[in-house]
Formats: sequence, C-alpha cells, structure tokens
Amino acid sequence: MAGPWTFLSQDKGFPMIIVLLGPPGAGKGTQTGALVKRYHLLAISTGDIFRANLTAGTPLGLEAKSYMSQGLLVPDDLTVRLVVDRLAQPDAAQDVLLDGFPRTVYQAEELEKFLASRGQKVDHCLLLDIQEKELTLRLTGRRVCRSCHSVWHLSFSPPPADLVCPSCGGEIYQRDDDKEAAVSNRLKVYQAQTQPVANWYKQKGLLRVVNASGQPLEVEKAIEKALSQGRPQK
Ligand code: AP5
Repeated sequence: MAGPWTFLSQDKGFPMIIVLLGPPGAGKGTQTGALVKRYHLLAISTGDIFRANLTAGTPLGLEAKSYMSQGLLVPDDLTVRLVVDRLAQPDAAQDVLLDGFPRTVYQAEELEKFLASRGQKVDHCLLLDIQEKELTLRLTGRRVCRSCHSVWHLSFSPPPADLVCPSCGGEIYQRDDDKEAAVSNRLKVYQAQTQPVANWYKQKGLLRVVNASGQPLEVEKAIEKALSQGRPQK
C-alpha cells in the first residue's frame, strides 16, 4: 500500500530513515506496530531485540538483562554494534523506522557516522510527547506477547483472559521493567540521557513533536501528518 513514507522514499531515490523517540510508555511500540502493518518499512526496535535475546538466553540477552531490569540503558558500544549490524543486513535496504534508538547523544552521533559512510542520513525524528503522570499508568498496566511483541493494556485494551496471544499463541506477560520501581528509574534515565537526543535532532532541524496523549489512532494520524509535511524547518 502506498503511504507518505513510500512516496517520500521514492522522491528521494533511496530509503528513508525515521527515528521514533519518546519516553517509556509514550506509545513507540504501539505506533511502530500500527505503522508497520500499514506501510512498507522495516522496524528495528532495540528493546524488542534485547528481549528476544533474553528469552533465547544468548550472551547478548544475558548482558542486557542486568541493565534492563534496573531500568538502566544497555551500554552504548553494545547497542550501537547491534543496530549497525542490523542496518547492514540486506533486508534493511528499504525504509527503516528506528524504535528506541538512538537513546544517547553518543548513539545518535555513531548512527550519523554509519549512515554517512553509506551516503545516507536520518530523514525525520519524531518525538512522542506526553505528560509524565500518564506514563506510569500506561506502563504498569501494559501486557505484552513474549513471541510477537503485540501490546495490550489492562484498562485501555485488555488482553484475552487466558493470556494467550490471539495472533501467534504466545504467552502474554508483564515485563519486569514495568514494575513501579523500575518505571520511575526509566523515566529519570530518559530525562537525563535521551531528552538531550531530542535537542540534538532539533538543532539539526529534523525534529517533529507529536502529541501522544490521544487515542492510538489519533496519534497514528498525527504521525502521518508530521511525515507528510516533509522535512521540518530549523
Ligand atoms: P524499550 O522496550 O524500547 O522500552 P521503552 O523505551 O522504555 O519504551 P516502552 O516499550 O516501555 O514504551 P513504548 O513507548 O513502546 O510504549 P507502548 O507502545 O508499549 O526498551 C527497554 C529497555 O531496553 C530499556 O530500558 C533499556 O534498558 C534497553 N534499551 C532499549 N533500547 C536501548 C538503547 N538504544 N540504548 C540502550 N539501552 C536500550 O505503550 C505503553 C502502554 O500504553 C501499552 O500498554 C499500550 O497499550 C498503551 N498505549 C499506547 N498508546 C496508547 C494511547 N494512545 N492511549 C492509551 N494507551 C496507550
């Protein structure tokens, strides 16, 4: 199906890179899922990759676990290597949505260097904007499929009572880092380490702020509108 991103990509002659930023619980995963279903793009979610490795018990997953369960960021070198390797794979030669990366200014700089080495750059950075009090409610009520990463919320979009994912049959569970102690730490880490990334993209004239406090469909439409307006002005 044609969409604004496909159109922009064709216009530009090579694939678009879109960065989706936002605090924990802002709806990055929800919007990524909806937009992947609708458009031709590859989503790379660092959180999902770390969790898949954790479930599979790989060395990467075991290393990431100690940081994730405390609500801390996984070290930059490990995360950058992971994303660069993923972007270098053949199926990444299409429009790409980066969900949850970069999350530090160092990661943003390394991404910029890697893309420049391939004659590419980030085309858009979208920041999902929402008040902090709403985030804790969203995170503590979230339930996720362990296999396909589909997302529910106990109040807003309740999962099936048997906690079996209707899409893939996977187990629906609560993430360790969605417990209240880890949530408050994640919000602090976001302010300290990821908010500066939004400012970094703003200075480059790439940032668009999207109101993420409405219903998921409203947020999806706001994202589409932001992208269809073309490159933001400084
Ligand atoms: P990650 O999985 O990326 O977690 P996060 O950024 O904290 O974001 P979340 O997944 O918690 O929230 P979301 O914005 O996707 O919200 P969602 O759509 O699920 O990362 C986890 C960890 O991995 C990090 O803490 C870190 O340790 C590590 N990591 C990942 N990337 C890293 C990096 N680059 N560098 C270093 N470490 C990294 O929505 C939340 C809930 O709200 C759901 O229940 C949903 O149903 C509901 N909801 C969503 N939208 C709406 C809406 N519009 N209205 C009502 N409810 C809604």
